Amino acid sequence: MALTFTSDAPQKRYVYPVDFMGMPVLLVRTEGEFRVYHNVCSHRGMTLVKEAGPAKRVIRCPYHSWSYDLDGDLVSTPHIGGIGSNDVEGFDRRLHGLKEIRSAIWMGVIFINLDGAADEFDSHTESLQSRWEDYAGRGSLNHLVAPGEDQRIDLALNCNWKLPIENYCEAYHLPWIHPGLNSYSPLSAHESFSLDEKTSGQISHQYTLTDIAGLKLPLFSGWQQDMQSHAEYFSFYPNLLLGIQADHAFAIVLMPKAPDRTEERLQLMYVNHEASSDTYRPCREKIIKAWREVFIEDIDAVEGMQKGRESSGFDGGTFSPVMDTSTHHFHRWVAKRYLSALADVKY
Ligand code: FES
Ligand SMILES: [Fe+2]
Repeated sequence: MALTFTSDAPQKRYVYPVDFMGMPVLLVRTEGEFRVYHNVCSHRGMTLVKEAGPAKRVIRCPYHSWSYDLDGDLVSTPHIGGIGSNDVEGFDRRLHGLKEIRSAIWMGVIFINLDGAADEFDSHTESLQSRWEDYAGRGSLNHLVAPGEDQRIDLALNCNWKLPIENYCEAYHLPWIHPGLNSYSPLSAHESFSLDEKTSGQISHQYTLTDIAGLKLPLFSGWQQDMQSHAEYFSFYPNLLLGIQADHAFAIVLMPKAPDRTEERLQLMYVNHEASSDTYRPCREKIIKAWREVFIEDIDAVEGMQKGRESSGFDGGTFSPVMDTSTHHFHRWVAKRYLSALADVKY
């Protein structure tokens, strides 16, 4: 599952705690890499880090001061053997470091796999990676830059996490929920598309690139001239929404907080460091403003669907066999996961 953004740890030696569906998790950026640990002390289970920020020399537990280095090794256990004795017979610090969670990075997003048993990470992303690199150029997705300024949108949704995934899959609602967006990227220029088992969404053939009095953002190096109005928006199940245009991309992490509450966080990314320089700030401001408007407009739709699910008159609804194919693709994936989870239940 998607956890958070690499941009949440903006410098080396940085810690960023995340509430992962109620479970305390800690993103640590060391000198050279990103690592994810359970944010819990090996002694009596105290939560270790409460606030994001530059890491101190060690991660020190606030309860009895056991300390860990950024590689997760337990380096100090004061008075464990009695006053003044920092060691005790039968206790091997090397066995009590932080518990690491398997993680991977793709498109500026940190993913985790709690049980460590998932298939190779690349096998999940290869279809989309290869499709988008055909447009953008080989290696381009690894060089996306998230500017340090305000290029984020954080929204709190009163709905189940699956509803924003469902809503993002389709363009059917454009004319009524997004009249502004529909004026420059109309419903008629969109098509539904399912890429692989866990990826479906929509393609727009009429995206207008940002142009402020002739100032245009640098484009992906491989993006073809005749494809410049092409844009793609895919839900990457279970909890990531992705979008790509010739001059920028974005990722949205959906974090379930309760059955009817979801945190939605968006990070905009640009094609290289030049595109995130001061020169192009007006373009970036225009882009974030436009997307903020769109995603705020969606809140009514997803919260309205949540309310509708309280109705005893709602039986699961109906899908348009033409307009809702991407949504249905997601529902099939969810249903399949429920069925396989149920098959494992021992009665
Ligand atoms: S719980 Fe962390 S040192 Fe005791
Ligand atoms: Fe929408």
